[in-house]
Amino acid sequence: IVMMSGNANRPLAERMAAHAKRRLADVTVSRFRDGETQVIINDDIRGADVFIIQPTSPPVNQHLMELLVMIDAARRASAGRITAVVPYYGYMRQEKKTEGREPISAKLVANLITVAGANRLLTVDLTNAAIEGFFDIPVDHLSAMRHLAERINALRLENVVLVAPDVGAVRRVERFRTYMRDADVAVVFKDRPRPDEAVVSGIVGNVAGKTAVIVDDIVSTGGTLIAAAEALIANGAERVLAAVTHPVLAAGAAERLAASPIEKIFITDTIALDECPAPFEQVSLAAL
Ligand code: R5P
Repeated sequence: IVMMSGNANRPLAERMAAHAKRRLADVTVSRFRDGETQVIINDDIRGADVFIIQPTSPPVNQHLMELLVMIDAARRASAGRITAVVPYYGYMRQEKKTEGREPISAKLVANLITVAGANRLLTVDLTNAAIEGFFDIPVDHLSAMRHLAERINALRLENVVLVAPDVGAVRRVERFRTYMRDADVAVVFKDRPRPDEAVVSGIVGNVAGKTAVIVDDIVSTGGTLIAAAEALIANGAERVLAAVTHPVLAAGAAERLAASPIEKIFITDTIALDECPAPFEQVSLAAL
């Protein structure tokens, strides 16, 4: 087995290597002066079972290109099998056409990863599990729900209601609930009047007097979490926490969330962050 990392999330790759009691392979991933990606694999990987750890997190295009070039380099170095370990799959929210003449970019990315030479994909909490079907190679679709739920369980909260911040999150909440005892469930109805804008039109379920834990796959602008939290408080929830897999955190999101009614936001390390200020707390998926 050979584990190697691009530049997207070296801390996670190092934690994974430590768990596997291995060292990361010696690989240089840099850029030529014109911006093109340069990859040099300094170790012999002939015949090896190679795991390339590279979430395609922001800047998505750069990290995606690094992943593709690393796969190509590994294939041309005669790797025996190549697994693309992509804990965050960039473009996953563009998985269907909502209007005419739109691309399905998540499928395009699947084609690129396959054509580059990956034999297997390992990823975490895709927005839509149907993306697995965009691949003709095996896909291991893992979930952070157990790790996040265990962290919430450790808080020994009482009177908990797990909240889906939109209808699409209900399945995820169902899965989260299997790791928790005695939690109720509520669903927030979210509209997006404009891209990156979230408005709540209603809540199904009783949240009054409860500790609400919002469960989601991505926090990007923070709009979804903040709109849901405000609606939960308006409907009588006593406390609001959140558990989210991928901290995409667009510009200004961390500040907006810090000023929101959300006490604590548990996120994972699928995406590298320079810092993890309150109210965020990181839960590592390296063991997963
Ligand atoms: C959308 O359907 C996803 O599950 C997330 O709720 C959404 O991507 C979060 O984005 P934002 O933080 O920008 O509201």
